[in-house]
Amino acid sequence: MAESMQGIKRTHRCGELSGANAGQTVTVMGWVQKNRNKGGLVFIDVRDRSGIIQIVFEEGSTDSGLIEKAAKLRAEFVVAVTGEVKKRSGAVNENLSTGDIEIIPSQLRILSESETPPFPIEENSKTKEEVRLKYRYLDLRRPDLQKNMIMRSQVATLTRQFLAEEGFLEIETPILIGSTPEGARDYLVPSRIHQGHFYALPQSPQLFKQLLMCSGYDRYFQIAKCFRDEDLRADRQPEFTQIDMELSFVDVDDVIDVNERLLAKLFKDVLGVEVVLPIPRMTWQEAMDRYGSDKPDTRFGMELTDVTDVVKDCEFAVFKGAIENGGTVRGINAKGQGGMPRKKIDKLVDFARDFGAKGLAYIAVQEDGSVKSSFAKFMKEEEMSGLIEAMGGENGDLLLFAADKNKVVWDVLGNLRLELARQMELLDKSEYKFLWVTEFPLLEWNEEQERYTAMHHPFTMPMEEDLEYIDTDPGRVRAKAYDIVLNGNEIGGGSVRIYHQDVQNKMFEVLGFTPEKAQEQFGFLLNAFKYGVPPHAGLAYGLDRMVMLMAKEDSIRDVIAFPKVKDASDLMTEAPTAVEEKQLEELGLSVTVQE
Ligand code: AMO
Ligand code: AMP
Repeated sequence: MAESMQGIKRTHRCGELSGANAGQTVTVMGWVQKNRNKGGLVFIDVRDRSGIIQIVFEEGSTDSGLIEKAAKLRAEFVVAVTGEVKKRSGAVNENLSTGDIEIIPSQLRILSESETPPFPIEENSKTKEEVRLKYRYLDLRRPDLQKNMIMRSQVATLTRQFLAEEGFLEIETPILIGSTPEGARDYLVPSRIHQGHFYALPQSPQLFKQLLMCSGYDRYFQIAKCFRDEDLRADRQPEFTQIDMELSFVDVDDVIDVNERLLAKLFKDVLGVEVVLPIPRMTWQEAMDRYGSDKPDTRFGMELTDVTDVVKDCEFAVFKGAIENGGTVRGINAKGQGGMPRKKIDKLVDFARDFGAKGLAYIAVQEDGSVKSSFAKFMKEEEMSGLIEAMGGENGDLLLFAADKNKVVWDVLGNLRLELARQMELLDKSEYKFLWVTEFPLLEWNEEQERYTAMHHPFTMPMEEDLEYIDTDPGRVRAKAYDIVLNGNEIGGGSVRIYHQDVQNKMFEVLGFTPEKAQEQFGFLLNAFKYGVPPHAGLAYGLDRMVMLMAKEDSIRDVIAFPKVKDASDLMTEAPTAVEEKQLEELGLSVTVQE
């Protein structure tokens, strides 16, 4: 029988109690973690979001009726306990913050009962994620998820505080907006009143924050929900949260400065980690050349070496062919891995194939200086030794080479580098390496659509010194765009925006928009730009990604209260669901399900 809270009030959270409370009468409320009944002696662990406290029901000090009642408690019952805090008489539990105290109860109320939960509520759960997500409200009771949610809340609060102090205004932007097909796929919402018309959910507040700059708000921020209908991965959700900001009368350095101080504050206050400022910067070109990635993990070396010049005269058809086709040959040196068994090397070749490689050439330098290689037979001896030298290869090293178009070579070796680092256990989650990647290309060639698309978005400012190439060699134009990278993850990105109409029109032209189409899709922004637009720039963080790294988790699902799974469904509410025929009628919709 459930009892009420009448006449009692919680005085403390369980984990807040300590030896300092000894002798006090307190009331805690929470969930039964454990019940150990030793006949006449019952230990109950009560849990809330702050921790666990042990209650001891013992003959002599506790009323026998209470002991009987306590003996009946089962896991996840909700109880209220009033009693006196005492230093533990028995062994101290080093694993609990309250491990040296216990409560001797004078009152126990059962506020509600619980069925046996489908999995135990405990840290480091071994229960499958699908089951946990179906019962997410129980999963969220587990201390590790509670720690993550508390950390996320701290990050949001500190961000608000910091940005407010820096003169930013928190302004909300709409969720029901018009569709803009640049970027990822939109989530669409049908309109009832305007049948056949649709709202889109925002992929980011980008256009609105630029309009707010036009309106003179000068420094804006928002902790904003964003929606993108993309294929999901461990670091991607269909709805996610950005810390979004925009600033007027600024250039790249101003945005970087305020954000470095924000990051330093967050990491110091939440984790006690000192971020050394300024954070290093690297151009996109250098990042690709050295790490094969625009979000390099700089916690370890194993950098790429361009050996095109070294092998350009050799007879190995793979290298020769790639170079003749305008590609390059590059390699990485996995130090001390020269003894890797053939089978394991073959796995690396398969891994490289997953990233578009046609193969992976290797030289395994043995401890005795002899060489095992997949292509030695095509090479002269001095070519081989020249190549090993160029790679800094020493006895016991494994050298891996990819030959192809630059884009493929970078992707293959960039990912191989990470895979080897995982295998060689070079990645320490408590080390935080930040990096700004700057001077991104403005445009990227889209093979499918056979046109250029914006690498960041169509409002990103080209670098002035590159503007002259925008007609003749658009791929060469760099942008005033920057990403903030943490341990190989893109946690944020932004740019200086175009604020001159002629540059914006040029950009639309290069992207293949007719003036009419540009007007149709972005007319309100272009019109706003006619009435006095300040120079402006901004940035947005993926809050989920940032907290994931701070919490040392591998998946952003672990820092989102109610996340979706790979097929974008929610296992708990079962969304998305079919809707009633009547709802569709009102919207003027009919559904054809494709096989
Ligand atoms: P961008 O598209 O780079 O920039 O997004 C900013 C940051 O948001 C995070 N992010 C995601 N996190 C989880 N799931 C996703 N599906 C997802 N997609 C992106 C990333 C990314 O760095 N309006 C611009 C910002 C600007 O120019 O000011 C924008 O949205 O961490
Ligand atoms: P093959 O002559 O095709 O048997 O290839 C000889 C070696 O070169 C094998 O180890 C292949 O995996 C490797 N290889 C093939 N294509 C490439 C490539 N594009 N880049 C690097 N190595 C390759």
